[in-house]
Amino acid sequence: MSSGFVETGLSSEALNIHRALASLQEELEAIDYYHQRVDLSDDASLKAILAHNRDDEMEHAAMLLEWLRRTMPEFDVQMKKFLFTTSNPTDLADGSGSPAAYGSGLGLGNLK
Ligand SMILES: [Fe+2]
Repeated sequence: MSSGFVETGLSSEALNIHRALASLQEELEAIDYYHQRVDLSDDASLKAILAHNRDDEMEHAAMLLEWLRRTMPEFDVQMKKFLFTTSNPTDLADGSGSPAAYGSGLGLGNLK
């Protein structure tokens, strides 16, 4: 699991956001670990337990995403834009959606 990097002197709000983001990262890693083990296991009863645990981690991740949505307004904006739609995400994104549109090469878009 990630220990997370934390700058010193952060506000209480920033620290709590860091805690939520670090926890979300850990939940996503746990989902990945469980999902890989579900895929590899050849024991049906173990596979079922691992799948149950994986899905519990999804619940945990969703709870953290909801806290972040309520706490960081831009998450609310982006979630309303991209989630629960049948549109192609690249059609909804600002800019062309092509890699050439991003200066960083990391696919992060404009971070201002
Ligand atoms: Fe969890």
